[in-house]
Amino acid sequence: MNTATSAVIYRTQAQWAPLTGRLRVPGDKSISHRAIMLGALADGVTEISGFLQGEDSLNTLRCFRAMGVDITEPNQGFVQVFGVGLQGLRPPAHPLYVGNSGTSMRLMAGILAGQAFDTVLEGDASLSRRPMRRVIEPLTQMGAVIESAEGGRSPLTIRGGRRLKAINYVLPMASAQVKSCVLLAGLYAAGTTCVTEPAPTRDHTERMLTGFGYTVHRSTATACVEGGGRLTSRQIEVPADISSAAFFMVAASIAPEADLTLLHVGINPTRTGIIDILKLMGADITLHNPRDVGGEPVADIQIKSAALQGIDIPESLVPLAIDEFPVLFIAAACAVGRTVLTGAEELRVKESDRIAVMADGLQKLGINATPTFDGMVIEGQGAAALPFGTAEIWSQGDHRIAMAFAVAGLRAHGEITIHNCEFVETSFPGFAALFRGCGGGLQDTVAHEVSA
Ligand code: S3P
Repeated sequence: MNTATSAVIYRTQAQWAPLTGRLRVPGDKSISHRAIMLGALADGVTEISGFLQGEDSLNTLRCFRAMGVDITEPNQGFVQVFGVGLQGLRPPAHPLYVGNSGTSMRLMAGILAGQAFDTVLEGDASLSRRPMRRVIEPLTQMGAVIESAEGGRSPLTIRGGRRLKAINYVLPMASAQVKSCVLLAGLYAAGTTCVTEPAPTRDHTERMLTGFGYTVHRSTATACVEGGGRLTSRQIEVPADISSAAFFMVAASIAPEADLTLLHVGINPTRTGIIDILKLMGADITLHNPRDVGGEPVADIQIKSAALQGIDIPESLVPLAIDEFPVLFIAAACAVGRTVLTGAEELRVKESDRIAVMADGLQKLGINATPTFDGMVIEGQGAAALPFGTAEIWSQGDHRIAMAFAVAGLRAHGEITIHNCEFVETSFPGFAALFRGCGGGLQDTVAHEVSA
């Protein structure tokens, strides 16, 4: 069930005001997905505030409605999920459509492998190119039966009625989606399922399971759950998404005279690579009022303009900033000296090949950016008043590419035109207006109707 969307074009403007003020970016996408999923599988009513009303998390919501879960229409981030219990989902009448959302597909594959009925999971053109073997493989080891399109791509047909068995799974790559998929399947498996990761990745699934009263045994690199328990409904307050805040963190760092405060941002230590990397580059970032909100750490983040330096990005920080590299590349282009990223081959299988698409766009803007198989080398133009030229950029249907180049407009000597920005709706509805509201120069226009 594909929906019609409108093609959106961004045009950055060389005219803008100093970025100042206090603002709150929308809710965390990863936490919003999980809140719907665990709320649906819990006993009782889960109330969510701060829910991200972006296309990705809305697709997750629609999928659970299609499986018989009563979920209220989100209203300014408030949603009630009437949980049906771990055994209460009903067969959907149609294939489950998750749009652009890898998180929906991979996490739901784990849940669906444990159901009594068959399901089909399908997504848009971008998602249909992304690798799903990484979840098919461990789920098959657990006894699931999954059919895929050629090359382990979606659509996935997940056969129901299988008795899953627990496994000890060592992740071949640092992936929170695969870790979460296996742990969620583990809720339905006989025995104790353990997942060991090669490097720390976001741990929202483990934290939220614990919040729903489900025991998760955790050691440094391993998380384990025993099948057959139950989830108890709760209230969830979703913090602002640090991955959306990242665009404003880089914007305020590279633009002159900026002083911006981002409110109520999730600072889970498995997500704060963006802060660590920007600080290594010399950014002026201060965390205010750190607090705990329902098991997730939160703070207000103040960013002021700074003279950034190029760095070798430590590989240990890569999984902790995995979604932030498009905009970090913009920061690197504005820094003095060379920035080198390695160990980030996962960027090639995100919503687009983020290494290729960003290198191409940066080169069009006059930056010396060399893609490598697992990263990029960028010669920063920090000494130049305005490092970026003017160009037309295609974001290749990737929300974070579109927003990254919008931020580049703050240091461009002309207009940057960015095509395909409708995908920004997947994670950051209202981005252009919020960017303008704090001083950034950006026009967004609807070009014509297309089918997603
Ligand atoms: C996510 C995990 C990350 C991230 C994605 C959201 C999640 O993907 O890129 O945007 O919510 O678990 P991988 O785990 O595949 O790296």
